[in-house]
Amino acid sequence: MPSQKIAPSILSADFSRLAEHIEMVASEADLLHVDVMDGHFVPNLTIGPPVVASLRARTELFLDCHLMVDNPGVLLAGFADAGADRCIVHIELGDPRPLFDELRERGVGVGLTLNPETAVDTVLPYLAEIDLLLIMSVHPGFGGQKFIPDALDKVRAARAVIDEGNLPVEIEIDGGIQEQTAPLAAAAGVDILVAGSAIFHADDPLAAARGIRSAAWPNGNGK
Ligand code: DX5
Ligand code: ZN
Repeated sequence: MPSQKIAPSILSADFSRLAEHIEMVASEADLLHVDVMDGHFVPNLTIGPPVVASLRARTELFLDCHLMVDNPGVLLAGFADAGADRCIVHIELGDPRPLFDELRERGVGVGLTLNPETAVDTVLPYLAEIDLLLIMSVHPGFGGQKFIPDALDKVRAARAVIDEGNLPVEIEIDGGIQEQTAPLAAAAGVDILVAGSAIFHADDPLAAARGIRSAAWPNGNGK
């Protein structure tokens, strides 16, 4: 049974009022999605460990850091010390096992992700070693893009392997999630829906998060 979680992505929040925006959605958020971009792996630049440390001091929500950076290895200690609960690394960078090892040693959760053009077969061999598989449903770098439906096939493929092996891995989807796409992702077997612009650009972010949850899981566990 998918765990039915909503992860607001703070990329679309007002960075000058982050704590306030997080507080606004906290009662509907199961975790927070933190997009880390270095201007190289993706053509955008966001935040790093100092901001995560500031967030850690202001919220008890689980901080899930999506690392869209060329060299995540140099940042893992910083994120661990800042209080990140999990770091998600990209398979496109090559063998992720040394990163997994370091995260485990530092007591940080392990996530793995893949870009829309990357085949799902590249991540399936690692499912027994990770806590989270993040399927990108847009090209990483920016909020507010259109959902790429091919991501659903990847979700189904991963769901089959996870269920078959009874593996303790959650599936998350990121990009273009709103009330229309959330039910498609949920039906394919997603556990965690990331949503940025659909929540933080709404007039009422809390109601938007609630709307995405009930669209996805109308008979769900009702947070
Ligand atoms: C894109 C980021 C996403 C982004 C999603 O690179 O990884 O987390 O915040 O934004 P929306 O929900 O607006 O597509
Ligand atoms: Zn993300």
